[in-house]
Amino acid sequence: MTNTNPFITRGYVAPEYFCDREMETKMLTQYLTNGNNVVLSAPRRIGKTGLIQHVFNQPSIAKEYYTFFVDIYPTKNYTEFVSTLGKSILHTLKPIGKSAWDRFLSIVKSLRPNITYDASGTPSLGISVDLSNHAPDTLEEIFSYLAQADRPCIIAIDEFQTICNYPQKNIEAELRTFIQHCPNAQFVFAGSRRHLLGEMFSDSRRPFYQSCASMELSAIPLDKYIPFAKHHFEQAGKQIEPGTITSIYQRYDGITWYMQFILNTLYSCTNSGETCLPGDVDQAVRLILSQLDYNYRNTIFYLPSRQKEVLLAICNEGIAENITSRPFMTRHHLTASTIQGALRGLLEKDLVTEEFGKYQVYDRFLAEWIQRNA
Ligand SMILES: Nc1ncnc2c1ncn2[C@@H]1O[C@H](COP(=O)(O)OP(=O)(O)OP(=O)(O)O)[C@@H](O)[C@H]1O
Ligand SMILES: [Mg+2]
Repeated sequence: MTNTNPFITRGYVAPEYFCDREMETKMLTQYLTNGNNVVLSAPRRIGKTGLIQHVFNQPSIAKEYYTFFVDIYPTKNYTEFVSTLGKSILHTLKPIGKSAWDRFLSIVKSLRPNITYDASGTPSLGISVDLSNHAPDTLEEIFSYLAQADRPCIIAIDEFQTICNYPQKNIEAELRTFIQHCPNAQFVFAGSRRHLLGEMFSDSRRPFYQSCASMELSAIPLDKYIPFAKHHFEQAGKQIEPGTITSIYQRYDGITWYMQFILNTLYSCTNSGETCLPGDVDQAVRLILSQLDYNYRNTIFYLPSRQKEVLLAICNEGIAENITSRPFMTRHHLTASTIQGALRGLLEKDLVTEEFGKYQVYDRFLAEWIQRNA
């Protein structure tokens, strides 16, 4: 694949487009190659998934291990967890070759591949799950495969704290037992709900207590982002002033996704021979917001009025604390019951995030759009 814009805004492409994380890459690689499980926590959009993919791409990992990446964010119960895990493993094994794939299917009896066809008749590989089988039995089969695989395995489970929301409360203990008895597999448990994740691993009454090395990911340092961005501009005969990069960094607290998204836009708006100046950032943000205008208008339009009021209140505060306190309610003319009811909906829709009692609009671009339009 030829990549015309070096500032990636989705997924992981190659080391040359990956900024820094040298220390974190070394540390995570070392933990894993020395038999440790790791819990990796960070705020949203900082680069957890990217770091895991980058580590999986390191020669000492890629050549020696089978690596699997499982995002369980959309799963709602034990059965969905098991089928998501099984499907991810099967999808990863497919390009590795028939023998790896056959080996998995001969052990995990409840997962079956099937071919589906889209409207144009293009075939694609689907995987059906036999739900008549008990989820713990299927999980046992998956671990039995991991134990027998012809290479050691690393399984990264993203948004791991999701299992706390399942109606089945025994999954944490069962998973822990399987993991303990499977030395052929190492795990990375990643997540963005840091206090939920923290509780799972640091509460002595919980099954995963002290079972992992722990890593916290924060923003990439500005002094690493400046040479990275300059280098990619210069490769194309363009220039970017360090002050431009600093200004994005300050505006979005260095959060990787926003850095990448705005640099991507600035790069595409700068012609060869031109220099990208700090004043261009505002223009790039305006362009991005105008492209998102229709979506945001819809989002706000279809929001129940109480959720809208609470969203605007949180947005006006930037970071909203003591959200059911009298001063907050008075400032925004809201009642405690309105706030509590609306918050649930806003958190479920991922419009607002909560950490340690602090609420924030999840999408910073939406927050800016609201400031300008609502
Ligand atoms: N070191 C990096 N250099 C350049 N781009 C990166 C880097 N790390 C991540 N990115 C990019 O930043 C964006 C956010 O990264 P990523 O998806 O890994 O974050 P995340 O913490 O997993 O987010 P979420 O909370 O949404 O799961 C992605 O577009 C990714 O391509
Ligand atoms: Mg992620």
